[in-house]
Amino acid sequence: MTVKRDQFGSRIGFILAAAGSAVGIGNLVGFPVAAVKNGGAAFLVMYALFVFLLCFPVMMAELSVGRSSQKDPLGAYRSLSGDSPGWNLAGWLVLITPFMISVFYMVITVWLFAYLFEAVRGNLDQLAKPESFSLLINSNGIFIHFFVVVALVNLILVGGVKGGIERAAKILMPTLLVMLIAMVAFVLTLDNAFAGVKYYLVPDFSKIDARVVNSALSQAFFSLSLGMGILITYGSNMGRQDSISTSAKLVALTDTLVAFAAGLMILPAIFSFNPNTEIADLSESSVSLIFTFLPKIFLALQALIGYTGASFVAVVFFLLVFFAAITSLVSITEVPTASLMGERGYSRRKSLLVLTISMSLLSVACILSFGRVGFFTELFSYAGQSKSLFDVIIDVFYDTILPLNGFLMCLFVIYRWKKQNLNHELETGDERFRGSWTERYLNVSLGTFVPLILLLIFINTVALKFFGINLLS
Ligand code: PHE
Repeated sequence: MTVKRDQFGSRIGFILAAAGSAVGIGNLVGFPVAAVKNGGAAFLVMYALFVFLLCFPVMMAELSVGRSSQKDPLGAYRSLSGDSPGWNLAGWLVLITPFMISVFYMVITVWLFAYLFEAVRGNLDQLAKPESFSLLINSNGIFIHFFVVVALVNLILVGGVKGGIERAAKILMPTLLVMLIAMVAFVLTLDNAFAGVKYYLVPDFSKIDARVVNSALSQAFFSLSLGMGILITYGSNMGRQDSISTSAKLVALTDTLVAFAAGLMILPAIFSFNPNTEIADLSESSVSLIFTFLPKIFLALQALIGYTGASFVAVVFFLLVFFAAITSLVSITEVPTASLMGERGYSRRKSLLVLTISMSLLSVACILSFGRVGFFTELFSYAGQSKSLFDVIIDVFYDTILPLNGFLMCLFVIYRWKKQNLNHELETGDERFRGSWTERYLNVSLGTFVPLILLLIFINTVALKFFGINLLS
């Protein structure tokens, strides 16, 4: 059955909404943590290379497939492949991925909400203590925060694409960027911040190893929302008069700028607050790092604007990051919602209900996997490490499947859908595309080295993550 697809009101509306979806926990939490863990500037260089050389073509491919088919990911693979069973499988993979990603994304969004709530209550000084993070994520209050977040996401989604996402993103994105830049400026005035700037910007290429390469690629995919059907869905809502190439460039640039700024805030702060930081110790960092250092940065503002002022800034910042996370969560949930509507003929409400219940059950299991319930806390053990449910979902769906989905998308577009259809779609709404450098690059890369590199990194990730085998050494 065909469903009438909502259209974005304007081109800038599309870009802001797509950038609003792209900017989220990946940029503000995932990127700085990955940069800290993986050698700072060495990671930054790999990340930038991957964004522009590999991810950008995949981004254009996803948007084109979405706009041409006017369908959800599953429907897109099905209709453009002439209902081939093999490609249907790829469509399913692209559908399960955002579903599973939304599970851990939800958990981190709930943590952000908990931090916002505590900052509003005037507990910024408590939040800055190292033990706060694990106390908070294992508190009973976390379940209340969880219900608030689930309710909010549903409220926005029932409103439809235009009403919900577009309005929120238009105000939110620019404000967040301005605030981030102001915070960077402040952090750079702190003592010893320069050591962090050096670690972040002066590459030590000897640090590039299998782990750095894998992390940079999955982080780039995740941050640009690739490999999870988001851009296929967004493409299907994009007007035919819009240039896919220009929109993709702007979204990729904004997203990378925000991630870069988040790194420039966090890395110098780490070196400033812990002047004895050993670079070797940083490789064991985890998400908790952000949740400890952000409050510390805000608390440091106390010297300038007092505790109330510092708390106010913290509240505004957490609010903006929380909204960025919510807009992302909304767009992740939009993918399986659109599929249930398109494939099963469910109403929007029914699709949402089915998804909310199943995602919530898994998210609650994740919330319980930080020590509360042994079964979820030590679910599996591989490559010599015990893994919680939360870890397993991240290892499988963020680290491993995203590049695989990207690889399949490249093969699909070039060898099944065919280059001329892709070019035709990219020329629609963009008369300057034909003969451009972008077109030439895409035509050469999408069928050759982009999928090849994605495949190699996928194999490398599986070997390293799950079997502890380092293929690059
Ligand atoms: N790209 C988003 C981020 O960096 C995450 C996201 C994934 C958003 C999927 C939408 C869809 O946080």
